[in-house]
Amino acid sequence: MSRIIVVTSGKGGVGKTTVTANLGVAIAKLGRKVALVDADFGLRNLDLLLGLENRVVYTAIEVLAGQCRLDQALVRDKRQDGLVLLPAAQTRNKEAVSRDQMKKLITLLAEKYDYVLIDSPAGIEMGFQNAIAAASESLIVTTPEIAAVRDADRVVGLLEAQGIKRINLIVNRLKPAMVQADQMMSVQDVQEILAIPLIGVVPDDERVIVSSNRGEPLAFSENLSLPGITIQNIARRLEGDRIPFLDLMAEHDNLINRIRRMFRS
Ligand SMILES: Nc1ncnc2c1ncn2[C@@H]1O[C@H](COP(=O)(O)OP(=O)(O)O)[C@@H](O)[C@H]1O
Ligand SMILES: [Mg+2]
Repeated sequence: MSRIIVVTSGKGGVGKTTVTANLGVAIAKLGRKVALVDADFGLRNLDLLLGLENRVVYTAIEVLAGQCRLDQALVRDKRQDGLVLLPAAQTRNKEAVSRDQMKKLITLLAEKYDYVLIDSPAGIEMGFQNAIAAASESLIVTTPEIAAVRDADRVVGLLEAQGIKRINLIVNRLKPAMVQADQMMSVQDVQEILAIPLIGVVPDDERVIVSSNRGEPLAFSENLSLPGITIQNIARRLEGDRIPFLDLMAEHDNLINRIRRMFRS
């Protein structure tokens, strides 16, 4: 049975595309076949984050128009077995695709891949509706900010109305120092508001931005950095492993305590 998971958020810029790219790599590394679908028509960038932009020949639009076969449009990632991308068209007309067409495409992918991860556009309009149409699960990405959490809450309601029952939360860009200083919501705050199960917390980390700019998701790295480990842990939790959550706050605590000790001695 294939798992069709839409990565969504409501608000833009919270890390949906970053999470989709990295999680795709991490799940494929566990030996699963993964198809990543860029459902952000018009503002696609999953291809860029994966460093596959020069290899895009066809997109979902050509497949739907019957101008190429689905497997011709899939871009295989040479760095990782079992990982492919179905690029979105760079079309200005976001209404170029219908819900039924999206469903058809994704159902076809689900026949061949263990996981279909769908990167959703921001907002709750047509593009979002298309992205969630075929999904049976969702990963809600939010940053610990009021506006992002409110939008996420709205989206959770829409997903539930759609019959999507398995909804898990990813808190992205956590800054432990700010939480400690009471300047940022904690993971617990976010989880209390959204009341959905937490599947991962990714710290705010410059290496995420650097790797995205290079087209080389962190999850590829042999020696995983902290954000890379948190992503890998999400992949393993999706697979059903019980992986304890890293205490990102404690790590920060240690640093603070170390500095305090330095000043004391
Ligand atoms: N954990 C993180 N730490 C630092 N920067 C991040 C992190 N996650 C995402 N970003 C940055 O945030 C910006 C928006 O991310 P993106 O994945 O494009 O969001 P979305 O797809 O939700 O619009 C990008 O510049 C990305 O590099
Ligand atoms: Mg995006």
